[in-house]
Amino acid sequence: MKSKASSSKADPAGQPECQPEIQSQPAISPNLTPYVDPGFSAALITWQKKYGRHGLPWQQSHEAYRVWLSEIMLQQTQVTAVIPYYARFLETFPTVFDLAAAPVEQVMEHWAGLGYYTRARNLHQCAKQLVDIYQGKFPADPALLQELPGIGRSTAAAITAFSYGTVAAILDGNVKRVFARVFGIDGYPGTKPVEDNMWLRAQALLPAQEIGAYTQGLMDLGATLCTRSSPKCPQCPFQLRCVAYAQGRTAELPVRKPKKAQKEKQAIMLLVQDGAEVLLERRPPTGIWGGLLSLPELAGMQEYSGKDDAFSVDAQMTTVRARASRFGDIASIQVLPVFAHVFTHFKLHILPVHVQLKKRDLEVAEGEHGWHPLSEAMQLGLPAPIKTLLSNLGTQSQLPFTD
Ligand code: ADE
Ligand code: SF4
Repeated sequence: MKSKASSSKADPAGQPECQPEIQSQPAISPNLTPYVDPGFSAALITWQKKYGRHGLPWQQSHEAYRVWLSEIMLQQTQVTAVIPYYARFLETFPTVFDLAAAPVEQVMEHWAGLGYYTRARNLHQCAKQLVDIYQGKFPADPALLQELPGIGRSTAAAITAFSYGTVAAILDGNVKRVFARVFGIDGYPGTKPVEDNMWLRAQALLPAQEIGAYTQGLMDLGATLCTRSSPKCPQCPFQLRCVAYAQGRTAELPVRKPKKAQKEKQAIMLLVQDGAEVLLERRPPTGIWGGLLSLPELAGMQEYSGKDDAFSVDAQMTTVRARASRFGDIASIQVLPVFAHVFTHFKLHILPVHVQLKKRDLEVAEGEHGWHPLSEAMQLGLPAPIKTLLSNLGTQSQLPFTD
């Protein structure tokens, strides 16, 4: 087994010294030309060399194995958390061959505490494939690296840029934030069209030289200056070209993930009253208010139909009557004001219908149904909105009702 070349210590952010430099930058295609701007990379590279990070452990070597390991660890974990794990990993698994030969359990142990454990399983699988397919030598072409487990387009580009000087574009969360602000991109970066546009820009902005400093610069700018909540614009090399800064919109960009519309449901509930008693129904053991006593509900909870609640009840009045008449002879039916109750996952519009009986059907008080004195209803452990409804009824109609 051959061992990997020792790491090169000089100029960590720049080009590796003893490795082939691969210039795989494609000819600028027409869809990239609107975004070409050599001033962008020039400003970033100058800034990175002066103000960027140079002392991070994984910057001390261009060895692809080390770069790969750090990039996987940094995918979803903060730099400070990664540092001790990175050191321990390299102690136990100094080369890709050591990692590939290790039992998966030992790899998992070394990952324990870092989170997102799929990364560790993929890391191990990836090491094996690198040994099997590439004799342990990482390809310098990001398209090939991207085929391996756990390596996406951006990670592949970062690895090949740092270890081989391959000119390839990264686009992680930090870069998306910087692009959204500098170029004033208004869409949510999680959508396909916005992300596609950002990839085009990322490619068009690539420098022909010093891809290492440039790539690190993007990461450093996003992590140290162009932070999510309080960007340090006065220190930023892009301040003069930054759309968000010029328009005072750094707090709005990037556009946040749109909130899913709150689900809304509605339910017609029958408040069936016979004298001083109310008819309650035991709800099924699972689901909303599982196992609690509540009011009989018409046809379960339905999609909320919109604003015109009263209409919605009127439209179903035949059904309401049919259902109510099963409990006895109806004296009166009155549609009560709608009110809403908010659950964690949806808002329920309760459409209460007050039914007074002149004579109850004696068969009804069986199984799930039972008559309860209104005066005792508050002690029954009813759902909160049902309690509210009943207590309002008590005050409205001066029923013999105590709290
Ligand atoms: N996050 C992802 N890659 C990184 C790197 N090389 N340095 C610092 N933070 C990073
Ligand atoms: Fe980010 Fe401010 Fe720089 Fe614009 S000027 S890229 S908002 S740090």
